[in-house]
Amino acid sequence: MSVIFRTFKFNLHRKSVNTPYCKCFIFRNASGSPKKFITFDEVIAQRRAEARRSLVVQVNSESSFDELYGYCSKYSIVNDVHHYQNSNNEHYMLIEFGSEDSKREVLKACSAHQKSTDIMPVQSPFLWFRAASGTKEKFSNTKKSLAVKHGNSKVDEDMLFKELLNCESVSDQLLLLYNKTKLNDMDIRLRFMVARQLEAIFSSIYANVAIKPFGSSVNGFGKMGCDLDLVLTNTVAPEMMEASRRLVFQEKICEGGRSPWQRHMELVATLLELRAPGVARVTRILNARVPIVKYSHEMTDLDCDLCYNNTSGVYMSELLWLLGTLDYRVQPLTFAVRMWARACSLTSPHPGRWITNFPLTLMVLFFLQQKRHDGIILPSLNNLIKMAGKDDIRIAEENLNCTFLRDLNKLPEDSYGQSNDSLQTLLFQFFEFYAQFDFQDRAVSLNEGVAIRKPNSLPLYIVNPLEQVLNVSRNVSFEECERLKMEVRNAAWHLESLLDGKKTDDWGILGLLEKQTTRNLKKLLKVGNNHRLVSVKDLFVAETPEVNTKSDRISKTEQSIKDSLDSKTRNLKFKNTQVAKQVYRIRRNKLL
Ligand code: CTP
Ligand code: MG
Repeated sequence: MSVIFRTFKFNLHRKSVNTPYCKCFIFRNASGSPKKFITFDEVIAQRRAEARRSLVVQVNSESSFDELYGYCSKYSIVNDVHHYQNSNNEHYMLIEFGSEDSKREVLKACSAHQKSTDIMPVQSPFLWFRAASGTKEKFSNTKKSLAVKHGNSKVDEDMLFKELLNCESVSDQLLLLYNKTKLNDMDIRLRFMVARQLEAIFSSIYANVAIKPFGSSVNGFGKMGCDLDLVLTNTVAPEMMEASRRLVFQEKICEGGRSPWQRHMELVATLLELRAPGVARVTRILNARVPIVKYSHEMTDLDCDLCYNNTSGVYMSELLWLLGTLDYRVQPLTFAVRMWARACSLTSPHPGRWITNFPLTLMVLFFLQQKRHDGIILPSLNNLIKMAGKDDIRIAEENLNCTFLRDLNKLPEDSYGQSNDSLQTLLFQFFEFYAQFDFQDRAVSLNEGVAIRKPNSLPLYIVNPLEQVLNVSRNVSFEECERLKMEVRNAAWHLESLLDGKKTDDWGILGLLEKQTTRNLKKLLKVGNNHRLVSVKDLFVAETPEVNTKSDRISKTEQSIKDSLDSKTRNLKFKNTQVAKQVYRIRRNKLL
């Protein structure tokens, strides 16, 4: 059967060059020879620098562009302006300036905050554009236009399913799905802006502070709207360790019963609540092995998880990113598997006894390390470790050795991307591989690239590639593992039915994501034109139906606060910061 699937050849450009992370994928190195791969560190440094010379400004609509552009150009060179709208229907422009210094000039020209609501001034890259008082300034006509309009609008599900239906092959479907749902440039820029905002706020308290995105925001497997994992580090710069420097900072030891970083994260959470515009719903999860502060960033619609010093998580993201860029098929295949798993409820947005996207991604990568008739697609991690040089040495927290080859240009061409199998073939083989996998006795090990004997009887064992004594799927219950086995079999059967050549409404990836009957039911339940779907359980809640959607709830709350402002309570002081913030935002009635 696999042989028949292998005959579905799909003619594609070989190595990917068009992902948002690979804008400068091919360039020349010092010796003048073309460099195929850029390193993870280079990509991250480029994105962080971009964020350092950018600002996000709330405006009235996209038509505010000319005036905003004219106004900012008075102070500095503007590279590009990108427009987006959040779920609260607020319009924003992300402005990238020519340099960080130019951006600083603009910040110097910013106005102070309104005093009336007891707000203390704060410097942050999130601003708003006030309407001009008196006569409007005239700006010379600019030929410049917005680089992007509605840069982060979500994909319309109906349109996507229609396009998937019209694809020629399953391989086409997989590529389409990947291209339509992966993080786009705007979304990535915003993620780095949110990180930059915290860096700006915390830099006066922690020396050398860096806040970096990790996880699916940067590992190449993130889809639009995925959570933003952030790590805070404040390592001492090597030159500051020199014993010849005789003037030394007086420093403070963090005392107390709890671990110092639990206490610092508590402080960080409070700072987020009090000092970071746009931050809401801060939750502290401080007793976990890695203390986390969760929050929502309302201006960008991002749900964020901030942790401290989890550098192994960053190196893990780097490893996944490297493997994802080695072959054009890795990311589309992983996207399809992650979406299939979500569709059949193998994964869930909530933590529990089920598999999550991270171990699922490792399962796909492990499958691609297997020897096939015409070679391998991905190398084992042991191979990458063997090839590592001095520059690749990385030691994470708790002395964890995270050394592996970083510059993929040094990897021999015949050690990856060898097979000619199409994406369609690979998807089928993935399900077939795990339908036959011996979960009872074997563990998935990306280090070896082959299944190894399980060290214990946990139902699912996926070795943590950077800390091999750990199982990244130790939370998965026996029942969930059984369901995983059943669902991979069902998926293999579904794809096998394609062999009769008939294209039904559920053909290919469609039947794995959402059956036609479910799609029709959802269409019936769709409300408004905002392309959000009502869940069936919403039909049974006792609340008044018109306040069920998020935007309804927000506009209701805002309306009631507005009403109360209009009344004699206008001069009330708000104890609750959340309410105060909302009132403050409504008072920006002169927003341009
Ligand atoms: N991670 C890890 N070890 C684990 C779990 C997570 O090193 N046992 C790291 C990985 O780099 C992972 C990141 O933490 O990518 C974030 O974890 P998580 O948010 O669970 O996964 P994502 O890859 O970000 O996927 P999702 O889109 O579902 O958030
Ligand atoms: Mg994540």
